[in-house]
Amino acid sequence: MELRLEELTKRYGEKEALSHFSYTFENGIYGILGANGAGKSTMMNLITDNVKRDGGTILFDGTEILKLGDAFRAVLGYMPQQQGLYEGMTAESFLAYMARLKRIPGREIRGEIKRVLELTNLKDVRHGKIGSFSGGMKQRVLLAQAMLGEPKVLILDEPTAGLDPKERVRLRNYIYELSQNRIVLLATHIVSDIEAIANDILLLKKGKLIHHGSPRELIDSLPPDQRPLLGYFSLEDVYLHYLEDDEV
Ligand SMILES: Nc1ncnc2c1ncn2[C@@H]1O[C@H](COP(=O)(O)OP(=O)(O)OP(=O)(O)O)[C@@H](O)[C@H]1O
Ligand SMILES: [Mg+2]
Repeated sequence: MELRLEELTKRYGEKEALSHFSYTFENGIYGILGANGAGKSTMMNLITDNVKRDGGTILFDGTEILKLGDAFRAVLGYMPQQQGLYEGMTAESFLAYMARLKRIPGREIRGEIKRVLELTNLKDVRHGKIGSFSGGMKQRVLLAQAMLGEPKVLILDEPTAGLDPKERVRLRNYIYELSQNRIVLLATHIVSDIEAIANDILLLKKGKLIHHGSPRELIDSLPPDQRPLLGYFSLEDVYLHYLEDDEV
């Protein structure tokens, strides 16, 4: 399986939110790191076709996703960064609604909802209204809907924002488990979320891909005269070295 982005570009007025971005994703977890405004969500919104691109191509196993249309959406799971909709629905009814939107066959919907509620530890609150949930619970509902239908391509935009450490670790382990035969893109500001699980990390700055590599490769690329934050070099140092001076 392969998701190939070529020369992908998105402009807002004069500004290039994403600029000639090229990268090929294969099975595995990809961490997308960048400061606020670097273009992470823009890249994800282009893949999910929530935003129209100004240039470039996105090929899924060699075919343009715009041509695949519904066939691509059927293999795609997307957890958006923003929450807020459907506050009046219960968790379960929201998931049922999303499952129908995703065209999951009727006889599979009940089982799928049960599965994702268990994965995100929401089973006990499934009849509660989303509007009454804490921020972290809402976040898990968003994640649960992204998992419906076992998507082959999973796009997670800051999935752990607002989660407490226990849920964050749970989620990280789960994402790792599920990444085996899937493409997972994970945007985050929390370096420790991806340090242990990402095969490759992409560093985005002002809409451009400035560097990428495994956590080890990135750490080894640091200049020897840089002083580690802790007693040793970590991905935090990589972030500070490559991205610290980024300004929106
Ligand atoms: N709808 C929009 N209209 C105008 N400009 C936009 C729009 N969406 C994004 N931008 C701009 O595009 C750039 C990239 O934004 P994007 O949301 O992709 O960044 P990000 O890396 O996801 O940031 P964050 O870490 O804050 O989520 C920013 O300069 C932003 O202001
Ligand atoms: Mg974003």
